[in-house]
Amino acid sequence: MITRSLDLDRPSDARVHDYFLGGGSNFAADRALARRVLSAAPDARIETLAHRACLGRMMRTCLDLGVRQFLDLGSGIPTAGSPHEIAAEADPAARVVHVDNDQIAATQGQLVLARCDNAAVLHADVRDPDSVLAAEQTRRLLDFQQPVAVLMFGVLHTFGEHHDPAQVIRRYTEAVAPGSFLALSHFTGEFAPERAREVLRVLDGSCPRPALRDRETVRSFLDGLDLVDPGAVPAADWRPGPADADLRSPEPLGFALLARTTPATRSRPDGASA
Ligand SMILES: C[S@@+](CC[C@H](N)C(=O)[O-])C[C@H]1O[C@@H](n2cnc3c(N)ncnc32)[C@H](O)[C@@H]1O
Repeated sequence: MITRSLDLDRPSDARVHDYFLGGGSNFAADRALARRVLSAAPDARIETLAHRACLGRMMRTCLDLGVRQFLDLGSGIPTAGSPHEIAAEADPAARVVHVDNDQIAATQGQLVLARCDNAAVLHADVRDPDSVLAAEQTRRLLDFQQPVAVLMFGVLHTFGEHHDPAQVIRRYTEAVAPGSFLALSHFTGEFAPERAREVLRVLDGSCPRPALRDRETVRSFLDGLDLVDPGAVPAADWRPGPADADLRSPEPLGFALLARTTPATRSRPDGASA
């Protein structure tokens, strides 16, 4: 359970992200930090848009493959093009559970989805998979006997090593049916180390400090999952469409990947073979 109180004088990851996406749910402290990030990395806004567009392409890939359920971990403040909108566009019966530990993201999401039967927002910490998986919203909307796409866009880098990212991912991917997907994006210094260090420097003390990880490290967290082509690449390079050319940055600060659970090698959490 989350009991943190709301402090609008302290920037939040969710509200800075909202500012970069052009949303209206951000405050002076968030905008001040966003401007500092832009001074360190002028393409930060373009990159945020590239990641959001990539998330949409990965979701549509899953939808094309028949997936109709999404567990959106670290969902952010709902803005245009949120996962529940992308899912509903493809199939009004598709179901989405958004999870965020930011109070504004959760409250705003609950308001937006108040009259929606197929999507819900859970105010929870995604590093606690057991409580996310057992939550009423998750049990009501998601059928774990059918494939689910677990979305972890822009959230895994908030996990320190002591949070055991591999174990958290395993808990989610073992809970879902064989043939499910994991879509994630992660902050990295692999492509532009100086720029990434500059971003860390301006973030220092303002927000939880993100972890810089390379693709090999993140791939090592994905035991039993197969990467979908083209693998782990800058978000703008993941199966881009014509509209994505403008979102390409010469110094990417992140990568994205889509992976699929492999039925033959999986075992279910109840001990039965998948
Ligand atoms: C960079 S935003 C990404 C939003 C969205 N996934 C996207 O890619 O457009 C990261 C979100 O993760 C949330 N977040 C960070 N750590 C979290 C945690 N431990 N549990 C739940 N949400 C978390 C933040 O509040 C924020 O809304």
